[in-house]
Amino acid sequence: MNKKTVRDIDLKGKKVLVRCDFNVPYDENRKITDNRRIVAALPTIKYLLENDCKVILCSHLGRPKGEVKPEFSMDIVAAELTRLLGKEVKLAKDVVGPDATELAANLSAGEVMLLENVRFEPGEEKNDEELSKKFASLAEVFVNDAFGTAHRAHSSTTGVASFLPAVSGFLIEKELNFLGSALENPERPFMAILGGRKVSDKIGVIDALLEKVDVLMIGGAMAYTFFKSMGYEVGNSICELDKLDLAREVMEKAKNKGVKFMLPVDTKVGKEFDPNTESKTVKYTEIPDGWEGYDIGQETIELYSKELQNAKTVIWNGPVGLFEFDQFAIGTNSIARALADIDAVKIIGGGDSAAAVEKAGLAEKFTHISTGGGASLEFLEGKKLPGIEALQDK
Ligand code: 3PG
Repeated sequence: MNKKTVRDIDLKGKKVLVRCDFNVPYDENRKITDNRRIVAALPTIKYLLENDCKVILCSHLGRPKGEVKPEFSMDIVAAELTRLLGKEVKLAKDVVGPDATELAANLSAGEVMLLENVRFEPGEEKNDEELSKKFASLAEVFVNDAFGTAHRAHSSTTGVASFLPAVSGFLIEKELNFLGSALENPERPFMAILGGRKVSDKIGVIDALLEKVDVLMIGGAMAYTFFKSMGYEVGNSICELDKLDLAREVMEKAKNKGVKFMLPVDTKVGKEFDPNTESKTVKYTEIPDGWEGYDIGQETIELYSKELQNAKTVIWNGPVGLFEFDQFAIGTNSIARALADIDAVKIIGGGDSAAAVEKAGLAEKFTHISTGGGASLEFLEGKKLPGIEALQDK
């Protein structure tokens, strides 16, 4: 990575504003259901504390759209950080208002505070300059460690970097190292598994990966658009009728590039969108009228698992089925297990596939599980991430 990190500047005793991605899922009782993004931020926070810094953390949580909404308060994150760090993390009552300013001014070396949800400020997502200046006025140095939000050009991710010395934390460094080296220098065969609902959502990443991989395996609802483009009926399955040409172009490109492009050979279909709906497995050419495809079938699981045994590098982005419903989670869980067993560099590109691997208890079998959903997708597409671009070059 050609950006400065916390190791490259003198931080000793300084007041440091750290942008994290603490956008974690939580249930209706406001209990955090997956704390991975908070845990992933700890190495940078601990490093700053060891260097006697006064640490001011900030993040967004959800999409409150510029309004103060208590259900999006960072209080649950402050409590989890307090637990994980074993020291009190004070929560400011506002983002850059009087309470945050006073708490920040009175912070001592080795203390940690957290600002309220940065998206309570209407200027945040507009990358408002005045707000960026207010963020900057709280500290002497800016550290961005929010890999999951690095694709957003907001006040607390990019704007503030114009007004303070700005470097990356260890999480951004680690994410770029793993994702970057897998893409630039993969041990071959290099395979990718892509799931997701729509071809149009994934076309950027499909295009970019076709330049790099030896094998591309498709799963998830986007498979039905490919089937339709080949002239087969897909019942009630999700299908983008205006993307059939695009699907055909993708297959043509794969052929021209010598990439083995794999589509499911069978699919598990259900009667309706319900966890307990009647279901059956059919060939991809025989999806019956009135049924909807929700998962890859057993034959596909075996085909993909066998292919993966030869892989030396694998990137997986997107579950291959409707894994939230147990009966349609078999494909995704089986792919996770097949990957767990192989000896290769195995990278999960964040989002739902990361959640699936976590849910299956297989996380430790992977080389790297990205904390970025949208951010890792944009990185895999080869796009520049504004939150990283804004940092100082080495
Ligand atoms: C994410 O969860 O992908 C990031 O935290 C970014 O969130 P956003 O899509 O609401 O900007």
